[in-house]
Amino acid sequence: MTNSLFDSARYQAVRKPLLQASTLPPECYTSPEFFRREVGRIFLQNWQFVGREEQVAAPGDYFCFDGLGGSVIVVRGLDMRLKAYANSCRHRGSRLLDGSGECKRIVCPYHGWSYRLDGSLVGTPGMQRVENFDPRDYPLIELPLETWAGFIFIHYADSPPPLSQHLGSMVDRFASHRPAQMRHVGSLEFDIDANWKLLAENALEAYHTGTVHRATLGQQDSSVVDTTGSWTALLVEDEASVATLPGDDKPFPHIDGLDTEARAGACFTLVFPSTQLVFAQDCLWWLAFSPVAVDRTRLTLGACFPQSTICLPGFEDKLKSYFERWRLATAEDNAICEAQQQGQKCAREAGRFAPDEFAVHALANWVLDQVLER
Ligand code: FES
Ligand SMILES: [Fe+2]
Repeated sequence: MTNSLFDSARYQAVRKPLLQASTLPPECYTSPEFFRREVGRIFLQNWQFVGREEQVAAPGDYFCFDGLGGSVIVVRGLDMRLKAYANSCRHRGSRLLDGSGECKRIVCPYHGWSYRLDGSLVGTPGMQRVENFDPRDYPLIELPLETWAGFIFIHYADSPPPLSQHLGSMVDRFASHRPAQMRHVGSLEFDIDANWKLLAENALEAYHTGTVHRATLGQQDSSVVDTTGSWTALLVEDEASVATLPGDDKPFPHIDGLDTEARAGACFTLVFPSTQLVFAQDCLWWLAFSPVAVDRTRLTLGACFPQSTICLPGFEDKLKSYFERWRLATAEDNAICEAQQQGQKCAREAGRFAPDEFAVHALANWVLDQVLER
């Protein structure tokens, strides 16, 4: 029997061309059942960005990613290869690590079982008399991990399709930014009482900039970016970097060797499902939206600059003005998304898209492609 919440007939108006289309109806942002379907069909079935390679540069460096498929440890091995493991002990399942740090072995806080960085179980105190127990049968459970240009992605399913298929034309489009040469310089974290799609959608349109960011960024103009693969984008056309507040007279120099498209403005992408990579002329930053519940999302904002910029005298000082911009604008975005979540709870019908909301429409349709009955 067809579940009407996932019946494609219900969403025909979203499927129309942009200027005739309706938005997703309110229940897509408020229904626990819709959210559960998204977890199963979207977050457990797609590559997810978790961080940058330089955040785990040396053997033993690790960080934890607390995603909807369970907590994952990303760690660099003695052979310099990155691995992703389920953050769960093979004895009685305790969580192993929190946050980020550096370790020689992964030691369980409960009964002290210990694992090498390659996942093998090497320390099992008090287990000598246990019958038919071979520690080699109990390594950490490994998850698929791939990287592109320093960006680390993990996948919760066995044998996923290659990451390159997911990224499609993104790899070529941003080649002149040389993202592999970029270095992470800092992150901000936010907890927001809003559905993950409201945050991702807000990051995909410049229509709100003249109102929500009236006192900070001001009005921005955007244009369509052609994409193939599992991503969408808009270009905010501005020869100056939009990574600092308007009127900031001394932003960092542009990245050497940018091609014509890259010089034209900042490209605000969304790698489906929920990671915005922004390629500006002087830096790149990400917004990683990590759903916690239907109406709650954790956001990590990370910033990267070319090594040549990081070496400039006064870098740390100047960087403060970039973080000031990210802090201010993100707080404004988060507040309006929380207001929108409140409004969606008492909404009854879908709304309509503005012409500038082409990438929001693309995300809505991608979500429907994943969750509706096939
Ligand atoms: S649960 Fe990890 S050692 Fe017991
Ligand atoms: Fe915004």
